[in-house]
Amino acid sequence: MIKTRLIATASSVPEQIITNDDISKIVDTSDEWITQRTGIKERHISSGENTSELVADTARKLLERASVAPENVDLIVVASVTPDFGTPSLACMVQKEIGAVNAVAFDIAAACSGFMFALSIADKYIKAGVYKNAVVIGGETLSKIIDWKDRSTCVLFGDGAGGAYVEKSEDAGIICEDLGSCGDQYHILTEGYSPCSNAFNEIPSGVHPDWYVHMDGREVFKFATKNVIKSMQKVMSQEKLTQGDIKYIVPHQANVRITEVISKKLDIPYEKFYMNMERYGNTSSASIPIALNELNEKGLIARGDKIILSGFGGGMTWGTMLIDW
Ligand code: UT7
Repeated sequence: MIKTRLIATASSVPEQIITNDDISKIVDTSDEWITQRTGIKERHISSGENTSELVADTARKLLERASVAPENVDLIVVASVTPDFGTPSLACMVQKEIGAVNAVAFDIAAACSGFMFALSIADKYIKAGVYKNAVVIGGETLSKIIDWKDRSTCVLFGDGAGGAYVEKSEDAGIICEDLGSCGDQYHILTEGYSPCSNAFNEIPSGVHPDWYVHMDGREVFKFATKNVIKSMQKVMSQEKLTQGDIKYIVPHQANVRITEVISKKLDIPYEKFYMNMERYGNTSSASIPIALNELNEKGLIARGDKIILSGFGGGMTWGTMLIDW
């Protein structure tokens, strides 16, 4: 049976590191509050790099690690809610940067579930025999859509990109998935609103307040725990797997307390969840591939290991994948 195998992983983050103490100098917060309520200690914040630069850097590393010539790339899918432009897509900008002249390139948006949705699309094209390989990346500069005066959100997010080069395979690869969307709850997490202003409907100039991230944190917390638990149960029961069969789970890095609830409810030891949000914060669509790349670079996963990637986010959306590494 044809599968989609993750051949190489990579990530790229801005050099600038902003600690909790740095943030407590601009809003009324503290290292203690942020650490206890979220698990975050620091995050990488752009000093001018835009999303396309982080995504292109990730793509370059992926091709180098997979030893693939750019002209042999069939498909580029980038997930982001903070692209440089409305058009061109980040994927087309990256295509130019890396010289992937024969690729089809487009973006998708599913917020923090974005990498899961993008990987699912690449998987379907490959399984259908349309393309043989793909570069799949989640990348964000969330710092540009954060209200740096709002302590309830500005402490949570970071900038970065991460991704995978995937290829058609006869043995290892993506086994199954569960994706979902709940549009009726979209209002609990929004950003980037652009009102319709034109020559016949002029509105006051300046940044619209809904341009910034707005979130009902408690509702998102409830949504995440409920749906990620159901989604992980679904993929594991589909393959008749128990927690003992799973080497690692790479969850969306939003809050260590969310992961603790999931670990407890599913009776999966917390140590099996690979966490790095302490150093990156929540990087939305980049969070799972940045963590996956770290796990891979540390040599903690080997061929034959079964791993689960699982994310949730704005929309509201969720996505889980079981992978035979
Ligand atoms: O990628 C998906 C994105 N989002 C998420 O996954 C978020 C999910 N939700 C969460 O992670 C948590 O709900 C938060 C970390 C966002 C908030 O934690 P919480 O335990 O739900 O806190 P809360 O919103 O209920 O606020 C508790 C208190 C409030 O003060 P009062 O009303 O009790 O006096 C807030 O005003 O904490 C206050 N607060 C802060 N205090 C210091 C909120 N933000 C801060 C802050 N520093 N940064």
